[in-house]
Amino acid sequence: MLEGASGGGVKRLIFLSDDGEIAIDADESVSVMQAAKAHGVPGIDADCGGSMVCGTCHVYVLDDLRGTLPAPSDMEREMLEYVPDPHPEARLSCQLRVSDCADGMRFEVPHAQR
Ligand code: FES
Repeated sequence: MLEGASGGGVKRLIFLSDDGEIAIDADESVSVMQAAKAHGVPGIDADCGGSMVCGTCHVYVLDDLRGTLPAPSDMEREMLEYVPDPHPEARLSCQLRVSDCADGMRFEVPHAQR
């Protein structure tokens, strides 16, 4: 883990999209969605700003350590039933904290969002 300018930790997160692999150094104080938006990861639109009503922050968690993430809430689970290309490894990135992610964790942006 790197040390961030704000004094908080920073973790490397990797997104797979049409542009290939995009590695970002994300501040642990924010959500995965906020970090992806701040770094311009394509396909993470997050139209509702994290209110769990749009599904446009949807990602697939590719990492073997996905089981260490907090389980989705009932509301997140319900929302994930309505996204295009539902997938067992799908999560709403607005509901994932960078601090809960493994350093180097990998996410795929679903084709429908690219
Ligand atoms: S930003 Fe809308 S559901 Fe995550």
